[in-house]
Amino acid sequence: MRKPVIAGNWKMHMTCADALQFLDSFVPLVSGTPTDRHIVIAPPFTALSTLAEKIKGTSIKLSSQNVHWEDQGAYTAEVSPKMLMEFNTTYSIVGHSEPRKYFSESDEQINRRARSAQAHGLIPIVCVGESDHQRERGEEERVIRRQIEQGLEDTDTNKLVVAYEPIWAIGTGKTCESKEANRICGLIRKWVGTSDLIVQYGGSVKPSNIDELMSMSDIDGVLVGGASLQPESFARIVNYTNQ
Ligand code: 13P
Repeated sequence: MRKPVIAGNWKMHMTCADALQFLDSFVPLVSGTPTDRHIVIAPPFTALSTLAEKIKGTSIKLSSQNVHWEDQGAYTAEVSPKMLMEFNTTYSIVGHSEPRKYFSESDEQINRRARSAQAHGLIPIVCVGESDHQRERGEEERVIRRQIEQGLEDTDTNKLVVAYEPIWAIGTGKTCESKEANRICGLIRKWVGTSDLIVQYGGSVKPSNIDELMSMSDIDGVLVGGASLQPESFARIVNYTNQ
């Protein structure tokens, strides 16, 4: 039984004060959410400590937006899994297309991050997805398959989440058509070869398209950017119905 993971990726948004204000409105809106889904927030590193305190007693779990492969060392600007565990962090996003693009993250680095997360009891959310040029050339399956093979090498595929995030759908308002997102999510699960693998979709998820996305057989949750920044819209996404 695959339990959907509904995660909000706040990216570089929200001070601690903003995060507290968000939770004041958000927590009551999800107090009656069915327990058949996980609710996750991935704030910037600076807000993890504040949120960890504030979500005690709720069903909300925390994710980091990245994680380094070493426990400690001379790695300026990085955060280690050991540090994240201090804040009861449950998940770590790795391989998001933004660090891939802006900081040239490689599949090999992403793999090291994912393995290190697992070694410390964190569940990596490994992001994969093709660019618009790659899709235009019909290369999406080859690209995603390579990201999966290299990114998940030597990981425990029973203890991770894969997020299919087509780059052309991120922050553009252009959601991938739900049947196509479903097809790719199903392929990813088949390529990984783990029938219980949770595969999320991400890219312009909104209150207006969440119910349709979650009614798809192979989509087990979503990774939400912009629409997770407002308590009302993220709560609507968390409270999806797929009847
Ligand atoms: P948007 O929901 O803003 O398109 O962002 C998606 C994303 O990158 C989540 O990780």
